[in-house]
Amino acid sequence: ADTDRSAVLEAHELTAKLYNYLLNNTQHGRAAKDYLRDRGLGDKLINHFMIGYAPEQWDTLSRFLTARNFDPSLMEKGGLLSAKSDGSGYVDRFRGRIMFPIWDRDGKVTAFAGRIIGEGQPKYLNSPETMLFTKSRTIYNLHHARPAIRKSKQVVLFEGYMDVIKSWSAGVKNGIATMGTALTEEHCSILARQAEEIVICYDGDDAGQAAAMKSIPMLEGAGLRVMVAMLPKGKDPDEYITEYGPDDFLREVIDQPVTTTKFKLIYSRKNHILLKEEGRKNYLLEAAGIVAELDSAIEREVYLQELSREFNFPLEVLKQDCHLKHQELQ
Ligand code: CTP
Ligand code: MN
Ligand code: MN
Ligand code: MN
Ligand code: MN
Repeated sequence: ADTDRSAVLEAHELTAKLYNYLLNNTQHGRAAKDYLRDRGLGDKLINHFMIGYAPEQWDTLSRFLTARNFDPSLMEKGGLLSAKSDGSGYVDRFRGRIMFPIWDRDGKVTAFAGRIIGEGQPKYLNSPETMLFTKSRTIYNLHHARPAIRKSKQVVLFEGYMDVIKSWSAGVKNGIATMGTALTEEHCSILARQAEEIVICYDGDDAGQAAAMKSIPMLEGAGLRVMVAMLPKGKDPDEYITEYGPDDFLREVIDQPVTTTKFKLIYSRKNHILLKEEGRKNYLLEAAGIVAELDSAIEREVYLQELSREFNFPLEVLKQDCHLKHQELQ
């Protein structure tokens, strides 16, 4: 019911404030605060993103909410508490974790992601799906990023919360992320309503690059112009900023995105051993197929010329092959 919804919303708002207070002002939060500081998050950033800390105890939040007359079984449905297995009551769902509030598009806290301090599994524990929170439709930081997205008509898509936060501090105010889950059609259509161009900036590891390959056609299908900002092998945006600094990140990564065609060519290249003739042939076949997806003959020509030069391979042959593949796609 509507009253349930508003109670769960209010509880989330208060919980975010509680966790943020505990992080900033208590002995319990000290280790979490040190951890965040080590990762380059100062007070300003912590408070802008309302980051908090859920202490180790089982009853910090459950007592807090009960004292304020919230119904514990409703709080369980809302994802803040967990039912004890013997049915004797409720305990805190999040314990000993750094807490990232998740907002809906109006800026209301509707869920949390809780990160373990240091190593351990699961690295992030998210709220379950509730009446307030649907992962497949939620976009982290969209409410903060919206004005910048509207203004520039561009949005930057990251993999993780930390990437969004660190990039924000580096000056990327139009950065967002999905909730760890893969990008959905719903995410794409929400983003297509806000922006004309999207820059994918996923982690520079195999998982990140494979995810980019999957996201490209979905985003293009939603009508967005897609670019890909690439990171050096094994680095994610957060790690890159820590290592090379914000200016370098903006100059070398964010401001140098490549076209999706270029990205696909780079991706395909990694699967072929170009030192061998067989590998070069197979790469050129695949590359011709990638270029064939382009509608414009001029654009196709530009990429084919590049391939022809690099591989010292007759342009006419590449064009013939690419043209056939292009026609098959029509
Ligand atoms: N994720 C998740 N649950 C996990 C691991 C990852 O929900 N157990 C989601 C989170 O949204 C996370 C994103 O997937 O931000 C990307 O995962 P990964 O690159 O492994 O994490 P990072 O964002 O780099 O996290 P950190 O920098 O804190 O290590
Ligand atoms: Mn990753
Ligand atoms: Mn990462
Ligand atoms: Mn990591
Ligand atoms: Mn990271």
